[in-house]
Amino acid sequence: MAKNESMWGGRFKSGAAERLRDYTESVSFDRNLYRHDIAGSMAHAKMLLKIGVLKKQELADILKGLGEIRAEIDAGKFAWSIEREDVHMNIEAALTERYPAGAKLHTGRSRNDQVATAMRLWLKDQIAENQQAIAALQTALVTWAMRDIAVVIPGYTHLQRAQPVLLAHHLLAYVEMLERDHARLADAAKRVDVLPLGSGAIAGSTLPLDRAFVAKELGFARVSENSMDAVSDRDFIVEYNAACALLAVHLSRLSEDLILWSTAEFHFIRIGDAYTTGSSLMPQKKNPDIAELGRGKSARVIGNLVSLLTLLKGLPMTYNRDLQEDKERLFDTAKTVQSSLLIFAEMLGHIEVDAAACQRAAADPLLLATDLADWLVRKGVPFRNAHHLVGAAVALAEEKKIPITQIPLADWKKISPVFDKSALEVFSVETGLQTRTTIGSPNPKLVKAQLARWKKILAGRK
Ligand code: ARG
Repeated sequence: MAKNESMWGGRFKSGAAERLRDYTESVSFDRNLYRHDIAGSMAHAKMLLKIGVLKKQELADILKGLGEIRAEIDAGKFAWSIEREDVHMNIEAALTERYPAGAKLHTGRSRNDQVATAMRLWLKDQIAENQQAIAALQTALVTWAMRDIAVVIPGYTHLQRAQPVLLAHHLLAYVEMLERDHARLADAAKRVDVLPLGSGAIAGSTLPLDRAFVAKELGFARVSENSMDAVSDRDFIVEYNAACALLAVHLSRLSEDLILWSTAEFHFIRIGDAYTTGSSLMPQKKNPDIAELGRGKSARVIGNLVSLLTLLKGLPMTYNRDLQEDKERLFDTAKTVQSSLLIFAEMLGHIEVDAAACQRAAADPLLLATDLADWLVRKGVPFRNAHHLVGAAVALAEEKKIPITQIPLADWKKISPVFDKSALEVFSVETGLQTRTTIGSPNPKLVKAQLARWKKILAGRK
């Protein structure tokens, strides 16, 4: 295109100012949509043949040209032009340069319904990829849990040691969180799966466009029911980003556990060298940077959600150019969660557990103080009283600076005559875990059953 020529044809006497061009272009980032934009154009062209707008040869030329352009872009050989503003104009103009029939492609179509279509197609693929990556991370968690099935760690509340749990139980908690993320994406995908094309700029078309045909061609479940909504709706992007924000928060929490566990203070795990970094100053350092960046990157996914909501809140109907700002936020969110999921799945395969350190941490008999209260309950003591009596024993042990298991029987009897020697049997981590039989508890048998259940579910997702 000559420098002063306008893209908008007759209405414009001069070309765009250079600053306007730089300020308004989106081709530098929306080229990301090229495969989906081309798929949309191919389906649209086939429909134009069906309704008699295109002749057979014209359709053949358009499909051939679009195929050539796609191959060139794939190969990195396509000459993108910032003068042509966005991915849609670049592809259409290149097509028309090569095949005059390209000038008929935009019949009954606006970039408003075109961009919404490309975004929805792109997002459908993206969600499927994210779901696979979630399954990969779940699989890595389950594999790790199975590998270290015998390891017991303290479970924490308030970051204070609370009760012993299997490490596998702790890891399975993340598998559950990720499963909800998977389900939220599946639910969001239903509302992405709607074809906007055929809505025109705002008010449909006077041409007899066959929207159902295009929907079928592109694999959309439904066509949109309101042309104004169709060109201005970006709810599906917000929903996707909301699901991703929660997913990112889950990854951030997992990161935090891994970071804590790899400290000298906890020493529960060692992350493999290839998945840690050193310090430029301190030679002894081995830093859990992947986990830290996983935690850090959740910030931008949350930020993107806020940006998108803010972008939409003041927009009058229908399409406004503001909507172009949705793309970088969407792409950034998708790339961030996808790369985090994939690297976490890989890293978890390179974590070594220090079983002895875990055992030392879980061996504190006070972690079973609640079990002793339960023992009293079984002897008929009301729980509130039992809680109080065990609290007195804890205080006595502290005062005498001895482990609670070393309190002499005579002292136990002074606290309550109900105590006898068999009460001390609760102070075994194994007993503590095995006697927990409620659904969802860290009983080794139940945890193994959960692992088997997840293995089966995840095998079905491959
Ligand atoms: N690049 C534009 C976007 O992302 C495409 C739609 C342009 N529509 C328009 N009426 N200017 O929103």
